[in-house]
Amino acid sequence: IPVQPFDYVVFGATGDLTKRKLIPALYHRFKDGQFDEQSRIIGVSRSPLSDADFQKLARDAVAEFVEKEYRDKETIERFVSIFSYIVNDVTNQDGWGDLGKALRDDSQVVRAFYLAVAPNLFEPICEYLGKRKYYRRDARVVLEKPLGHDLISSQEINDGVARIFAEDQVYRIDHYLGKETVQNLLALRFANTLFEPVWNSTHIDHVQLTVAESVGAGTRGYYDESGALRDMIQNHMLQLLCLVAMEPPASDDANALRDEKLKVLRALRPIANGDVGKVTVRGQYRGVTSETTSVKGYQDELPEGKKGSRTETFVALKAEIQNWRWAGVPFYFRTGKRMARRVSEICIQFRDIPHSIFDHAEGAPRPNKLIIRLQPDEGVKLLMMIKDPGPGGMRLREVPLNLSFAQTFSERTPEAYERLLLDVVRGNQTLFMRRDELEAAWAWVDPIREAWDRASEPPQPYTAGTWGPTGSIALIERDGRTWHEDDN
Ligand code: BG6
Repeated sequence: IPVQPFDYVVFGATGDLTKRKLIPALYHRFKDGQFDEQSRIIGVSRSPLSDADFQKLARDAVAEFVEKEYRDKETIERFVSIFSYIVNDVTNQDGWGDLGKALRDDSQVVRAFYLAVAPNLFEPICEYLGKRKYYRRDARVVLEKPLGHDLISSQEINDGVARIFAEDQVYRIDHYLGKETVQNLLALRFANTLFEPVWNSTHIDHVQLTVAESVGAGTRGYYDESGALRDMIQNHMLQLLCLVAMEPPASDDANALRDEKLKVLRALRPIANGDVGKVTVRGQYRGVTSETTSVKGYQDELPEGKKGSRTETFVALKAEIQNWRWAGVPFYFRTGKRMARRVSEICIQFRDIPHSIFDHAEGAPRPNKLIIRLQPDEGVKLLMMIKDPGPGGMRLREVPLNLSFAQTFSERTPEAYERLLLDVVRGNQTLFMRRDELEAAWAWVDPIREAWDRASEPPQPYTAGTWGPTGSIALIERDGRTWHEDDN
């Protein structure tokens, strides 16, 4: 079903995000018939392009970033025909072009402004959009990360936007929330009766959250200013934590859900200065050369002026949630670049059985694990103990009860941005971060960052293509546990 017609204005229209993510996502939704015929996409940027140039940019982006099987000439031409372009220098008040003329003054046409630009431009753009010809109380503004580098800078950004837009008009993107498998956490927990009764400290021993990437980071200018804590933990991984740990919301209303997520963030035990060294580990990858591979280390990828950088490309940490449900259940986080494989998953490890009757059996019962694989090979797996078939007496074996999405469903899995971009048009804020959530997340990570900045020792080195520094293994093994690693 098509969504309401819209004027989607994209600031930063010639940038990387627009080409790699926004245009391909819009194309898929267009191809699936979700655009009303009256919908328009208006690119805004400083570069002096014509409408035809921008349409070419869109055509090229589809050719480069949409898989071949979904591209067809006729659809692409209809798609690019809804693109137009305004030359607009947002840093210069006199350089504002004709955006006002391009916007339709019709309350049935949704007006959305997507700010795919550096955050220092948010405030001047919003200030300008506050003028009568652009602003409407029902207009929406979409913000992209980085939404600050600490609590104070994030508050400044939010204040700047809030001078013009009310919170119910602001859509802060965390693309992890748009991922199908992340939304599936909600279905798993709240559309089944099986899990919720055991979803607490009585039954769960601990939880592991892993987002491992095999790519490196040193050639991305932004990364060195950020590091893994800000780039992955503060946003994506804390959002995952919220969905795993929150109380069941009373409804699917955006604020009902975000209220529950906020409570989790606020219940995180602050990591005291003296504990940072005990419960956090940061690492930086070193290069590796062998007969078959040669991978550069982080330092070798950096430009001259940045050599010696102490930016972390890996973080492992242990978090605790101070509430009735989770008291005493550690949540171990692990994320890094240049790790052994690309895998994002959540592993819920249940407690040991209270009493074993299998003293004479071969193989001891192992605790059950529920593994939610976010990417790649999306799926849900329950590791359980069974009797090994055969006459040879009682032999216990751990086997997976395995739900593979690829094997179960034939549909293509939409990319995160496809859902999020249209949720803006639908006016549904459920999968967007509210200001208080974002700020609670910064308030929790800031002291960790500050303690690292004061520390004399640099991040621990780890070899590219491994699971991170030895300190990460020690962090979990000290508690008598191990990282879940699974070859399939
Ligand atoms: C981005 C980070 O937000 O998320 C990147 O800036 C990271 O460093 C990316 O690579 C991971 O996203 P995904 O969807 O590939 O897991």
